[in-house]
Amino acid sequence: MINTNTFTKISSIVILFICTLSSCKNNTTLQQDSDLGSENPDARTVVDAHSFSNPSDIAIDHMHLDLSVDFAKKVLSGSVRLDLNRKTKAEVLHLDSRQLNIEKILLDDGSEAKYLLSEDVEYFGQDLAINLKKKTKSITIFYKTSPNAEALQWLKPEQTAGGKHPYLFSQSQAILARTWIPCQDSPGVKFTYSATIKTDSNLIALMSAENGREKTEDGVYHFKMNQPVSSYLLALTVGDLQYQSLGRNCGVYAEPNMVEKCAWEFSDMQSMIDSAEALYGKYVWEQYDVVVLPPSFPFGGMENPRLTFATPTIIAGDRSLVALIAHELAHSWSGNLVTNETWNDFWLNEGFTVYFEQRIMEKVFGKAYEEMETKLGMGGLKETIERLTNENKVEDTHLYLELTGRNPDDGLTDIAYEKGRFFLQTIEYAVGRDKFDIFLKKYFEENAFKPMNTARFEAYLDEHLLKGDSSLYAKIQPKAWIYGPGLPDNAPNPQSEELDKVEVEAVRYMNGDKATRLKTKNWTTHHWLYFLRGLRHKMDINQIAELDNAYDLSNSGNNEILCDWFQHCIDVDYQPAYPSMERFLTSVGRRKFLSPLYKELVKTEEGKAWAKRVYEIAKPGYHSVSSNSIEAILGIKS
Ligand code: BES
Ligand code: ZN
Repeated sequence: MINTNTFTKISSIVILFICTLSSCKNNTTLQQDSDLGSENPDARTVVDAHSFSNPSDIAIDHMHLDLSVDFAKKVLSGSVRLDLNRKTKAEVLHLDSRQLNIEKILLDDGSEAKYLLSEDVEYFGQDLAINLKKKTKSITIFYKTSPNAEALQWLKPEQTAGGKHPYLFSQSQAILARTWIPCQDSPGVKFTYSATIKTDSNLIALMSAENGREKTEDGVYHFKMNQPVSSYLLALTVGDLQYQSLGRNCGVYAEPNMVEKCAWEFSDMQSMIDSAEALYGKYVWEQYDVVVLPPSFPFGGMENPRLTFATPTIIAGDRSLVALIAHELAHSWSGNLVTNETWNDFWLNEGFTVYFEQRIMEKVFGKAYEEMETKLGMGGLKETIERLTNENKVEDTHLYLELTGRNPDDGLTDIAYEKGRFFLQTIEYAVGRDKFDIFLKKYFEENAFKPMNTARFEAYLDEHLLKGDSSLYAKIQPKAWIYGPGLPDNAPNPQSEELDKVEVEAVRYMNGDKATRLKTKNWTTHHWLYFLRGLRHKMDINQIAELDNAYDLSNSGNNEILCDWFQHCIDVDYQPAYPSMERFLTSVGRRKFLSPLYKELVKTEEGKAWAKRVYEIAKPGYHSVSSNSIEAILGIKS
């Protein structure tokens, strides 16, 4: 239990934080609370610095959404009913809301509730403070989203693969759920949900919940999510989609002209699920499907429960990028079951997931494959550490992050993913794989459907695995990994025979051998990525041109390779690649590919001008997540 003193402290930190962010325009917010009801200010434990909500007083137990999809207006409209668990006597319910148009709020006795909506705080949105009665158990909020709702992307038919129907998808993580549903938008709060979605009769609506497979005649769809989930896992997509089963309890949705290709690419999905279950326990969400979205989806994948959202950029035609599916599937345990309590603990979601993903990949595709990915992962991590250190952001190389007052997006680096994974690998090496697997299985089982934070994880690790053994502590150095900078001196040094062979070829090329003489016959994506990364800043324009002539890299069908290749081309201003780079930047919206290219381009005046011109063409196709990041790189104020 936290004592009253701590409560007061936390409250004042939060008040201070809110005032700082909003230049104190907002300092009426908390005074208004007292006008609204008899809330005990000491009970306002906002442990999550990115939410206005007060779940320790009143928590959402169940949500029912009833929304209509209006493609012409780019608006969702209708209502959300929130069933509440009243934990204390507090009578003000604080919800997160952003860019929402609240029409009215009804209490369960039919009366209208008094509410206040604070001014908008950057990144954060608005505090929707609702006055409840003592007996209120449920409220219904009638509202509309804004056409600019950051979570939602509305696509015109020409932005889809089929070209005939409009398309909508949501992206709620980290704190964008509040832009389409007023809710307690904090990962530590879990609730079940149900929904009714009305849309055009020729489209299908899907959610991160129990889905129908087929279109309905009237365009009305009903959903149920019976397991409690956090708000960042609320997801909706609407489009012309078709389903293909891939096994006992998995399948893929995609636009009709792509569904076959996607099904071929993901043919290993069922064995991934079986391998994951063999490692860390039963898959509790019953069904696992993937929906392949249009190319503007800003991420590679998003682990929406029962229905991963995925970028089409992983459909490479050779199954070489399906580790992403293993990753999103692994989140069904690390993240969706045991969830980071705040965004400061993000590494608990992503580090565990990368570790788990690679264990699945090793089982399904073999050790050599896993070794390549792990070695590439270490390369990326070292680069990220160097960059953050040079940018004076060494604190951001700690696993546990301090994101108070910042956009949680700032924590979205290789640190959570790769440093997190190598920390877990360090524990595995120290205690042995068998023991570590038993520990992890138990960790997922005992903490299922609960939030986890870094301190509690440390305690759990001590209690169940390290048990105060000082020699194990010395071997693992958990504090150095979690609260220290960069890579501790006991970090693993991943090896890969496959990539060693690539290194031999890279050296030959640097020593003047011809590009056509390189032994690239059985190279997969990973070999090429290692080759290109190893030669970064080492090739001159002639070597780049020769490689392009030999392997047509500028027209590779593989988006991962293209992204690395174009960075080389920008370095040496290799103009023949620019038309295909323009095509890439204007057809793909995945931020991981866009940011490095725009960052390279702005390094020269001509590059920056070119990037700005291309961005203007590309912008309508980018999701806000990507366009916000690119505008920051280009120095454009929106
Ligand atoms: N949950 C993340 C995506 C995310 C994180 C979205 C934070 C918004 C905020 C997802 O599981 C993820 O990590 N996706 C990666 C792919 C993965 C294979 C590393 C991506 O999108 O690139
Ligand atoms: Zn992830």
